[in-house]
Amino acid sequence: MKITVMGQGYVGLPLAMAAVEAGHTVFGFEPDKDRLNRLKIADSYVEDVPDKTLRAALETSRYVPTDVDALLVDFDVAVITVPTPLTDRQPDLSFVRAAAQTLAWHLKAGATVILESTTHPGTTRDLVVPILEQATGWKAGEDFHVGFSPERIDPGNERWTFENTPKIVAGLTPACRARALEFYASITQNVVPADSLEAAELAKVFENTFRHVNIALVNELSQLAHVLGVDVWHTLELAATKPFGFTKFTPGPGVGGHCLPVDPVYLTHHARTRHGHAFRLVELAQDVNDGQPEYVVSRLQDALNARSIPLNGARILALGLAYKPGTADVRESPAVAVTELLIEKGARLDIVEPHLTKVTPNDFRAIPRDLGAYDAVVLLTQHADFDLQHVADHARYVLDTRGAMPVAPHIERL
Ligand SMILES: NC(=O)c1ccc[n+]([C@@H]2O[C@H](COP(=O)([O-])OP(=O)(O)OC[C@H]3O[C@@H](n4cnc5c(N)ncnc54)[C@H](O)[C@@H]3O)[C@@H](O)[C@H]2O)c1
Repeated sequence: MKITVMGQGYVGLPLAMAAVEAGHTVFGFEPDKDRLNRLKIADSYVEDVPDKTLRAALETSRYVPTDVDALLVDFDVAVITVPTPLTDRQPDLSFVRAAAQTLAWHLKAGATVILESTTHPGTTRDLVVPILEQATGWKAGEDFHVGFSPERIDPGNERWTFENTPKIVAGLTPACRARALEFYASITQNVVPADSLEAAELAKVFENTFRHVNIALVNELSQLAHVLGVDVWHTLELAATKPFGFTKFTPGPGVGGHCLPVDPVYLTHHARTRHGHAFRLVELAQDVNDGQPEYVVSRLQDALNARSIPLNGARILALGLAYKPGTADVRESPAVAVTELLIEKGARLDIVEPHLTKVTPNDFRAIPRDLGAYDAVVLLTQHADFDLQHVADHARYVLDTRGAMPVAPHIERL
């Protein structure tokens, strides 16, 4: 089949690679010149796609990264994997709109268009379908097919990969769903048919909302536990011994990445503006998680204060900027928010982030040996390559926001 993947990012590139592997011919449409040039020379910017996989795909001649939309003509299946960010704290569907418009120009009768971007229920039916119908004068479900299949990719997760993570697949009509299922069955091991587009769209935003709310719950619990003088990490370990009805989430400096801070807003914003319905628990969770970076800084400030050191001018070493271990992804990372707040308050900050190339003179790729030079170290991302024993042995004070350090008088956990 001729496949078009709109967007060669964290979602689109692994999908394109899987489709090439399955024997399809894939046009990876990518408007970002820098990304496109890197794709063409097999220089991957997505950690789950090694350069050698990209090189092998290019060598088959069945993978064509491009920004020339004329090449997309006559596709059998097109998958939209473009960003769905927040702009001014509001859902921004302009990328989905633009991608659907580009596909509409090249749609042939009988082709299938599938949206994978995470969004609120109703987007495929109310936004994508009309764009395709208006441009062609055809009827979705009769002249061409439309589907929605949320992506669950978890960058860096070696156990659950693109291939073995169950893939929900929905269609506008049963025939649309059958086409979409046929495509995904060729590239993934486990497809899960959904009854409607909206059920699949809601399932995806709810999965991330579930995590978001539970993280907010433990973040708030950790603040209470601190007031009570209880070690929240030990409390959570105890609670997690319950073999049923409990799922362990852990506190941290907030939520980051493209999904958790963003997706629930698609749901709450849509519920409020379109349906006049407040999803209160989720809105509250957003407030709690958004406030975590400030809470981390206040804890650091209190600890320094106890040693008569003002935060203004204090030498602080931040460990990690990425939103989660093992990745260079700093999108919406709460660690970035913490470092910005520290700089704003006058801290003399150095940052260690092994997964990023050096961006400022104060950034290190490895933990400096001379930790005694710092008034405080704050662990923000628990990268596997951090030697935490070295930190424990040599730092004067550590605030551990990830519960990863040993308990010691000079180490405080969130
Ligand atoms: N990254 C994840 O872990 C993850 C997981 C599940 C779902 N998602 C969802 O998948 C979608 C894509 O996320 P991502 O992380 O791959 O984003 P990304 O920013 O890494 O990639 C999107 C790509 O789309 C390109 N693009 C922008 N406009 C385009 C257009 N009009 N046509 C074609 N390409 C265009 C961008 O240049 C970019 O390279 C989002 O809705 C996201 O919420 C992401």
